[in-house]
Amino acid sequence: MNEKIHRIQDLKKEKNAVIMAHYYVNDEVQDLADFVGDSYYLSETASKVDADIILLCGVSFMGESAKILNPHKKVLIPDITADCPMAHMADTDKIKAVREKYDDVAVVCYVNSTAELKANSDVCVTSSNALKIVKALSNKNIYFIPDQNLAHFIADRIPEKNFIFNDGFCYVHHEITADDIMAVKKKHPNAPVLVHPESKPEVVALADYTGSTSGIINYATENDSKEYIIITESGVLYELKKKNPNKTFFTVKTPQVCSNMKKINIDNIIEALEKESPEINMDETLIKNSYAPMKKMLELSR
Ligand code: 13P
Ligand code: SF4
Repeated sequence: MNEKIHRIQDLKKEKNAVIMAHYYVNDEVQDLADFVGDSYYLSETASKVDADIILLCGVSFMGESAKILNPHKKVLIPDITADCPMAHMADTDKIKAVREKYDDVAVVCYVNSTAELKANSDVCVTSSNALKIVKALSNKNIYFIPDQNLAHFIADRIPEKNFIFNDGFCYVHHEITADDIMAVKKKHPNAPVLVHPESKPEVVALADYTGSTSGIINYATENDSKEYIIITESGVLYELKKKNPNKTFFTVKTPQVCSNMKKINIDNIIEALEKESPEINMDETLIKNSYAPMKKMLELSR
């Protein structure tokens, strides 16, 4: 293993590359990344990074986001088939129809979406800034794509706006039920429940804290409880345990795993750096049109 890590370090130097990783990828990949974080952190970092190559260890919408925000860099993704199913769960015809029906509408696009969906939207959001950004919009009507659960989380907290819901979901979070949580809560009644907002409303209703992957990690790190119930993909457990070696974390389902995130490994990272492939390639118009809502996100979340 050490030999492979050295190879990666050499390739990084030789190619002037940086490695970015999401909290859901395998532990050993998080270990070798220069930047590890939630979707917002990865987008913001990618927009500023000054290297020739960005190797994005995550799913393809994350690679696309990096390319949109820093189009002159070469963006590599170790496995091009690592895709988020939810990123495709909205369609541009429906966006058009909603725009025709409502005159004062903002199309708000969760970053877990294809570049084409972003390009047809007014503003992008991540789980960490969606509430702040939607509150800041002057529009009365909000068409939130693709995730129904994040949309409900936001809508419940901004009752003055009219939400039009889409039916996308993340299978990792959507499968978890209130009963699953109650079963674990029975065994660990004092453990706060930390929930990602891609979870169903019945799950969010049981949360002591709801927030992004970084938000969950920060909450558990800053609070005194010695045990927590974690309702998100289990990749976050690595950082949680690293930061909190004396605390215990419980999940409710085995596994709570995003199979696409787990496609990234040491071997395909080496291959991607050696071959400078697979590369995220997008045509100029798509980059230009998806840049505006991404840039608006960065501005509104400051
Ligand atoms: P975060 O933005 O909280 O990192 O979440 C990304 C994601 O894919 C959740 O499923
Ligand atoms: Fe997509 Fe869910 Fe995987 Fe996140 S955890 S990348 S939303 S499938």
